[in-house]
Amino acid sequence: MSNRTFTMIKPDAMKNGHAGAILDRIIKEGFRVVSLKLTKLSKEKAGEFYAVHKERPFYGELVDFMSSGVIIAAILEKPNAVNAFRTLIGATNPAQAEAGTIRKLFATSIGENAVHGSDSDENAAIEGSFFFNGLEQF
Ligand code: CMP
Repeated sequence: MSNRTFTMIKPDAMKNGHAGAILDRIIKEGFRVVSLKLTKLSKEKAGEFYAVHKERPFYGELVDFMSSGVIIAAILEKPNAVNAFRTLIGATNPAQAEAGTIRKLFATSIGENAVHGSDSDENAAIEGSFFFNGLEQF
């Protein structure tokens, strides 16, 4: 069990003005911010980040969406971070997300679902280092 996870506030939540509320919620839930940046993925970089989904029918749509606007990327720390964060954000499909979760509050659809959260400790480390070098992790 690692104490770090990785998240992105996705272009839909950024465009809809939810970034501040989402960060506030994350911090109030006890996550410490290890790394944070506002950035924008090129199509190529979004494709690389989501390469694991390359064969899925929604891959093209996912890459287009994730490169459609700025995002906030962050590494977060808390005991059992991956699972704690997945509980906080709720199910991938906001229609199935628990009341009070970030996706229930801020997501609009399964594709435009406000936030990303790593699904394992291994992926959290890979995804965090995709955006942040060692000097950017506090
Ligand atoms: P995320 O947690 O960032 O990881 C993969 C993403 O693929 C997921 O959130 C969704 O936004 C997206 N995704 C998963 N299933 C679908 C789907 N059926 N249609 C469109 N996008 C999807």
